[in-house]
Amino acid sequence: MDLTTQTELLDRINACLDSGSDPMAPSIMAQPSEHYVSAERLDEEQASIFDAVPLVVGASDRVRNPGDFFTDDLTGYPLIIVRGDDGVLRGFHNSCGHRGAAVVDDEAGCNRRFTCPYHAWNYDNRGTLVSIPNDDGFDGVDRSTRSLIELPVEERHGLVWVRPTAAANETVGVAAFLGDLDAELETFKMANYYHDRTDVLNDSFNWKQVVDGFLETYHLRFLHSTTIGPFINSNFALFDAYGPHGRMIGLRDSFEAMRTLPPDDQAFLPHVAIIYQIFPNTVLVWQGDHFEAWSSHAGTSPSTVTARASLLAPPDLIGPEYDARWDKNWQILMDTVLLEDFVVARTIHQNNLAGIRSDAVFGRQEAALQHFHTQLEAHIER
Ligand SMILES: [Fe+2]
Repeated sequence: MDLTTQTELLDRINACLDSGSDPMAPSIMAQPSEHYVSAERLDEEQASIFDAVPLVVGASDRVRNPGDFFTDDLTGYPLIIVRGDDGVLRGFHNSCGHRGAAVVDDEAGCNRRFTCPYHAWNYDNRGTLVSIPNDDGFDGVDRSTRSLIELPVEERHGLVWVRPTAAANETVGVAAFLGDLDAELETFKMANYYHDRTDVLNDSFNWKQVVDGFLETYHLRFLHSTTIGPFINSNFALFDAYGPHGRMIGLRDSFEAMRTLPPDDQAFLPHVAIIYQIFPNTVLVWQGDHFEAWSSHAGTSPSTVTARASLLAPPDLIGPEYDARWDKNWQILMDTVLLEDFVVARTIHQNNLAGIRSDAVFGRQEAALQHFHTQLEAHIER
């Protein structure tokens, strides 16, 4: 984040704190409960949104070297992301040209070749079909049409982005998609960040509820009273929309002391938590010294969710001496999310399924949440 932006934000935050009023949206907003349980709604979200926009599938650092690959099924399309021997990052559907079996089951690794477990059809790490066992039985097969099916991928901000339904010769177009947020994210130089770890979490509620959990600070001192609640200012959330995306800033407990220092001694970034909500399903959390990257995906129904959570560490905070620091951060995060947020999300979803209330209400201090759902609704083509 550039210094001009930091100064502007500091001024706006100071104005709120000096007046004793938390940032507020103009009005409350009703949110239909049906949006969390309707299969038709999920189909609309898939067709109008997930099949149309760039989606994050993981950290660039996982595929830094030739041959490095990872697999990912969360978009609903089983994918292989692999850096070829030529250094080019590519994405493929994880589907053999013979009968369609997945050619690789491993979560990640480094390979020159992928061999389908079914009949051992063999592909190089550029996706080209190299060999067919007993190939005299496949006279007449046009091998060029039996290579792995490619899709567009792009690396930007330390993340790998795809469009699973696009043809290989199309682009992902991340910068255009991010708009003004692109330049701001660029200032963090996330391309240099290291992938510390990824956890994949499965649960039984709607995919939007994972995102919802990040988009207000109102609940922190109640639900998270013994975990992160003491460290982040509850109810204060400064929100700015960036097209369909958003930036929400929360204040760490150290912020109040920092802002009373002489201007030259003030530092913004270590004393805030920044939630970059990338439409529709990715949340990048600036934690003062590192990023978490979250992406939430529906399973096969509105009642199942799979979320991918990664810790991305900056290059100056990597090495064995930092392992305990990241372990501790991750433990607090998982205790907060799994034992608190997700528990509540399950009860909300049960009540939504039972049709107890026709809507929920988003308060004026929940501006990011309002924007997220307004944008989802606006993007659905009926
Ligand atoms: Fe929470």
